[in-house]
Amino acid sequence: MKQIAILGSTGSIGCNTLRVVEAFPGEFGVAALGAGANVEVLAEQIDRHRPRVVSVADEASAEKLRQLLRVRGVAPLPRISVGVDGLSEVATVDGAEIVIGAVVGALGLLPTYRALEMGRRVALANKETLVVAGELMTRAAEKSGAELLPVDSEHNALHQCLRGEQRQELKRLILTASGGPFRLASKDDIENATPAQALKHPTWRMGAKITIDSATLMNKGLEVIEAHWLFNCSADEIDIVVHPQSVVHSMIELIDGSFIAQLGVTDMRHAIQYALTYPARRVSQLPPLDLMTLSKLEFFPPDTEKFPCVGLAYRALRTGGTLPAVLNAANEVAVAAFLEEKIRLGDIPRLIGAACDAHTAEPASNLDVVLAADRWARDWVTQQINGLAAVGSRA
Ligand SMILES: NC(=O)c1ccc[n+]([C@@H]2O[C@H](COP(=O)([O-])OP(=O)(O)OC[C@H]3O[C@@H](n4cnc5c(N)ncnc54)[C@H](OP(=O)(O)O)[C@@H]3O)[C@@H](O)[C@H]2O)c1
Repeated sequence: MKQIAILGSTGSIGCNTLRVVEAFPGEFGVAALGAGANVEVLAEQIDRHRPRVVSVADEASAEKLRQLLRVRGVAPLPRISVGVDGLSEVATVDGAEIVIGAVVGALGLLPTYRALEMGRRVALANKETLVVAGELMTRAAEKSGAELLPVDSEHNALHQCLRGEQRQELKRLILTASGGPFRLASKDDIENATPAQALKHPTWRMGAKITIDSATLMNKGLEVIEAHWLFNCSADEIDIVVHPQSVVHSMIELIDGSFIAQLGVTDMRHAIQYALTYPARRVSQLPPLDLMTLSKLEFFPPDTEKFPCVGLAYRALRTGGTLPAVLNAANEVAVAAFLEEKIRLGDIPRLIGAACDAHTAEPASNLDVVLAADRWARDWVTQQINGLAAVGSRA
C-alpha cells in the first residue's frame, strides 16, 4: 500500500482526497492527517483510516479531538501535534510516499518545504505555497529529486497537456477561468457585493477563501504565478482566457500552431486521482464528461479593469523577489476581512495594490526573508483595515 499524508484533510480538497483513497481499497494507506479546528470531521476520518500521526491548529482543538476519539473507542490514539510544527510532522511522517498539500494559504509553506526536502512526491493544491516561495520550493524539489505534481485543476490539465512535449516547442500556456459569479456584473455591483453573493461560484464547490479569490479573479492571478514555477514559463508565456463552462480545464499552444487542451467534468477528484496514481492512469469512478450535452464552449478575454487583481498578480510575478509573498499575504488578510464584513469586495484589490506599492521587494533568497515579507504585509494590511474601521469608512 502506498502511504499518504494529507495536509488539510478536513477541507474540500482533503475530503475529496479521502474519497479517492476509498475508491481504491487496499491501494493507499493514510499515515497522517493534518487539519485545523474541524475536529468532528477529523475524528471521523481518524476512526475510518487510523493514521499514526495527526495535527490540529492548537491545544484546545487537540483536547477536543482526544475526547471525541475516546468516545468513538479509537485505540491506540494517534500521536496528536499542533500548529505549523504539527503540520510539518504530518508532512514528514515515516513511510509516507505522497504528501497532499491542501491547507489554505501560506500556512502550507513550511510543511510543504519539509516534504520536498525529504524527496517526497507532493501533490499540491495549496497554490499559495508556490506563489509565496516558488523558487525555494522548486529548488528544494530539484535538489532532493522530489516530484511536485499539481492538483489545481488548471495546472493538472497543463501537466497532462505537456506530457511528451518538448519545452522548446511550447509557445504558451493558456489558463482557463470560469469568470466567477461576477463575470457579467457591473463594476458597481462587484464593488458592493456581499459575501453570500461572492460565495456562489457558478461551476465549482470549494472552500471559502478560494471561492472569494475566484470572485475577484485573484485566483487566476495566483495561478499565473503558480504556473510560472511549475512549468518554467515567463509571464509573457502565460495567458488567461475566460471559459464560463469550465469544461476545458486549460490548454497549451505549441510553436507549430497546435493547441492541446484537457477537458473533463468539474470534479476535483479527477486531478487528485491523477496526482496519486501518476504516471499510471486508473479507471475513474466519476461519471464521464458527456460531450453530447455540451451545447457550446465559449472563450473570452478577461476584463482586467473590472478585475484588477489579475494585473496585480502579473506585476508581482514580473517584479519577483518578495513581492508575490506580499501580494498573497495582503490578499489573505483582505479576503478574511471581507468575509467578516469589515471591508467591501472592491477594497480587496485596492488594499493589495497599496501593500505592493508600500513594499520594497528584495530577493526571496531564503524562507526567513519570504516569511518576513509575509508578516510585514499581514501587519500592514491589518493596520489599514483597522484604520478604515476607526474612521467608519472604507478604502
Ligand atoms: N477546493 C478546491 O476545489 C480547490 C481547487 C484548486 C485549488 N485549491 C486550493 O487548495 C487549497 C485548499 O482549498 P480548499 O478549498 O480545500 O480549502 P478549505 O475547504 O477551506 O480547507 C482548508 C483546510 O486547511 C485547514 N486549515 C485551515 N486553517 C488551519 C490551521 N490554522 N492549521 C491547520 N490547518 C488549517 C482546514 O482545517 P479545518 O477545516 O479543520 O479548520 C482545512 O482542512 C487552497 O490553497 C486552494 O486554493 C482548492
